[in-house]
Amino acid sequence: MQDLRIGIIGVGVMGADHAERVVRRISGARLVAISDPDLPRATALAESLGEIRVIEDPLALVGDPSVDAVIIASPGFAHAEQLMACLENAKPVLCEKPLTMDTESSLRVVEAEHKLGRQLIQVGFMRRFDPEYAALKQLLDSGELGRTLLLHNVHRNKTVSASFRSEMIVRDSLVHEVDVARWLFDDEIARITVHAPKPTGLVAEGVLDPQFAVFEMASGAIADVEVFVNFQVGYEVRCEAVAEKGSATIGLGVDVLTRRGGQWGGVVPEDYRARFGTAYDIEVQRWVDATARGEIDGPTAWDGYAAAAVCTAGVQSLQEGRPVEVELARKSEVLG
Ligand SMILES: NC(=O)c1ccc[n+]([C@@H]2O[C@H](COP(=O)([O-])OP(=O)(O)OC[C@H]3O[C@@H](n4cnc5c(N)ncnc54)[C@H](O)[C@@H]3O)[C@@H](O)[C@H]2O)c1
Repeated sequence: MQDLRIGIIGVGVMGADHAERVVRRISGARLVAISDPDLPRATALAESLGEIRVIEDPLALVGDPSVDAVIIASPGFAHAEQLMACLENAKPVLCEKPLTMDTESSLRVVEAEHKLGRQLIQVGFMRRFDPEYAALKQLLDSGELGRTLLLHNVHRNKTVSASFRSEMIVRDSLVHEVDVARWLFDDEIARITVHAPKPTGLVAEGVLDPQFAVFEMASGAIADVEVFVNFQVGYEVRCEAVAEKGSATIGLGVDVLTRRGGQWGGVVPEDYRARFGTAYDIEVQRWVDATARGEIDGPTAWDGYAAAAVCTAGVQSLQEGRPVEVELARKSEVLG
């Protein structure tokens, strides 16, 4: 079996991380090309990783015959056009979240893929591959704790760039919990409320951080989420599921606990690459293996669309200060 020849679009923080992963840790795959409008950045990365072509135009990378499959790690606003190009060229693609920036363009992507009659798109909701989340999912699905009733989630970053506005906290950060809730409950989110508590004084005027969201699932179960992207301390993601006969918590960060100088404790990860490094490795390896079989093995374009629909309602809720119903097309009507 030949190695899968991968091209990566967008080599900022996430794309460079994936590039290094494909080159150093993923088997059955080879990084052959990268594309980024920041040419010096792309060139420096290509040189540091070996014989990798820099193709200036991302759509040319998609169409290039030396590229079998694509990883999209450009900013969300560029995803729709690049995904459509992957579909037109019948190239399997692992697209970083969000699928696209709005519900309509996400639905167009789902429909275009459906027309092809083959699933080519996997969305980078990597938490599904994190060993702790996977164990939680397995436990809840086993029924050992009875039916799951509630999820309590915490999602904190140390800091984000000044350009990260209130709406992005919903579309870029909260979107992970949107996927987690849909996945763990195996259900759609029917209604979302995003509250804006008193903001931290450590961000620009007008940025609503932290936010507190409540998801009402179609079945009646509820998930709550604190998202706080300028928490100052480090990266922290926790989830507690409450079921009929018990609860289960992940993300306590209990790795090595040390005692010294009259104190005890561990280390808070700096960012998501430290906390979810294993999840990204598993995600990309399973995507490569599935692509070799002509399949995907993870969140689908529909999952990306559903998350976009929830985030659109979430942004509206934040702006209008009220619960907003999620408008989702009927899956059976879109996918037959
Ligand atoms: N799964 C996760 O945990 C996770 C974490 C961080 C970021 N992400 C996602 O990864 C993507 C990239 O995020 P990032 O943090 O690496 O951003 P970044 O700003 O660090 O990098 C984006 C890169 O894309 C390039 N770029 C800009 N416009 C482009 C275009 N039209 N075509 C191709 N490249 C373009 C930029 O020059 C930059 O190098 C986003 O979709 C983001 O939401 C996912």
